[in-house]
Amino acid sequence: MCGIVGIVGQYTVSERLVDALKRLEYRGYDSAGVATITEGALHRRRAQGKLVNLETRLKQEPLGGTIGIGHTRWATHGASTERNAHPHFTEGVAVVHNGIVENFGELKEELTAAGAEFQTETDTEVVAHLLARYRREGMRRREAMHAMLKRVRGTYALAILFEDDPSTIMAARNGPPLAIGHGDGEMFLGSDAIALAPFTNEITYLIDGDWAVIGKTGAHIFDFDGHPVERPRQTSIAAADLANKGNHRHFMEKEIYEQPEVIAHVLGHYINIMENRADMGSSIDFARIPSLAISACGTAYLAGLIGKYWFERYARLPVEIDVASEFRYREIPLSPQSAALFISQSGETADALASLKYCKELGLKIGAVVNAAESTIAREADAVFPILAGPEIGVASTKAFTCQLAVLAALAIGAAKARGTVTEDEVQALVKSLAETPRAMRQVLNTIQPEIELLSRELSKCPDVLYLGRGTSFPLAMEGALKLKEISYIHAEGYAAGELKHGPIALIDENMPVIVIAPHDRFFDKTVSNMQEVAARGGRIILITDERGAAASKLDTTHTIVLPAVDEVIAPMIFSLPIQLLAYHTALFMGTDVDQPRNLAKSVTVE
Ligand code: F6R
Repeated sequence: MCGIVGIVGQYTVSERLVDALKRLEYRGYDSAGVATITEGALHRRRAQGKLVNLETRLKQEPLGGTIGIGHTRWATHGASTERNAHPHFTEGVAVVHNGIVENFGELKEELTAAGAEFQTETDTEVVAHLLARYRREGMRRREAMHAMLKRVRGTYALAILFEDDPSTIMAARNGPPLAIGHGDGEMFLGSDAIALAPFTNEITYLIDGDWAVIGKTGAHIFDFDGHPVERPRQTSIAAADLANKGNHRHFMEKEIYEQPEVIAHVLGHYINIMENRADMGSSIDFARIPSLAISACGTAYLAGLIGKYWFERYARLPVEIDVASEFRYREIPLSPQSAALFISQSGETADALASLKYCKELGLKIGAVVNAAESTIAREADAVFPILAGPEIGVASTKAFTCQLAVLAALAIGAAKARGTVTEDEVQALVKSLAETPRAMRQVLNTIQPEIELLSRELSKCPDVLYLGRGTSFPLAMEGALKLKEISYIHAEGYAAGELKHGPIALIDENMPVIVIAPHDRFFDKTVSNMQEVAARGGRIILITDERGAAASKLDTTHTIVLPAVDEVIAPMIFSLPIQLLAYHTALFMGTDVDQPRNLAKSVTVE
């Protein structure tokens, strides 16, 4: 997945293209490039690595032109070299692409046999060659575009410049999002409305199969068969200001410390709905559905796994859950009377979107738990449950995770209320506990940093780390491991504490740190027994527990992090904080790029 932009402007565009790309860097930062038409010819500047390298290149070699396209890349086909950076040029055609051309192998073979010379290892280059070939064969630009789209299989958001037409950009969408922005005598194109926010808030979203011809004063949109179509123009709420780090060293640190505030906001929103409407006010009838399917990726999936515990325990609602890349293909016998929840910070994750479409075809009601309210997943859903976390810029998800948990907890309690599986007193008690979350979070964040720093220094010397937990602390153990590996590059695994003896215990020796997440809940004694098993083999135990657990555990641990004792339903949100901070400070000791860790991107729009 990558970010693409385009401007058909009145004055020089290269700087503005880079400004728009900066707002899309969350989609990938392996390389970047821009192309414009100036003095009747296509010109481009490209650079390997982050956008700042492209900015430097443009300072050294400025690029004129009032029409242009740009790209920030997350490499799929071909290494992240300058040669593979977009835009790709072939015989007067320039192309930027987000997605994957699945039949690029066969197209490349065919085009090569016909004499085409490929310059890159990318799948995208076949698009440029196909267009060039159709033009050579005498097709007009629109005909060539339509013919190319008929040949290309896969996913794409495309922006294309033809050297012999310095007044229009062609665009096409199938899968990844694409927004056309309407300016004053200028038109814009971007992977999302956020990229275009400095220029315009008037947006038309293309839908799958659409392609468009964009000029200075408007756009002509066509469906896949080439028929002209109208798509609504809407006012986006995307903010023009780029989020800043405030006094923090990294966005991730800022986002960790923002959690009490954003959690208070999102819980306030849902508690208010819950108190006024038994059914959470959504088009999903939680009282009647026989089961719930949940699907998501990465951290969002782990939030869903915790949600499963809550829906099943409180609402007695059976939950089928899987990572979206597997869910879609498992041929799960889902009832059309059921509902499905898709959890996604970005709302654009291709695997989650594919699973959503699969469930929609089966006739299930679709709920979206998203941060990006204008995202594709939000737009495809019957009911949208916003997590209201505000922009999350750090690639490693922190506040979006706890806000997803807050929404899932509220939905589970709302479902329990609607299904009559809890008494009114129990609902009140759960809601009261939820309302405690921001205060408990603040207390944790105000006190634990010094000991987290000490522990992180130790962790940064370890090649492997094991995380253990039971109940909702099991997904949290996996989240702790995911966070540590993605930003510190230290290998880590999260296990159900009870599974330790079935294999991973073989890893335990005096060098292996084992982080045990154990609030003093129903599972505490059993988790302590598993800790004994680690201690007996000389493992280094770091116990994260609460005041009650610390008093009850007589075990000799290397270190015990003691959090305030809270109700079981909010423990996952409170216990998220030390695991996020441990990952963050360990990454600082490792000297990694915390906000933009290697090989990752914030929005993953390829399957
Ligand atoms: C990890 C992380 C990823 C995302 C995953 C899904 O810190 O951020 O695992 O959770 O790529 O992304 P969204 O939530 O945008 O669908």
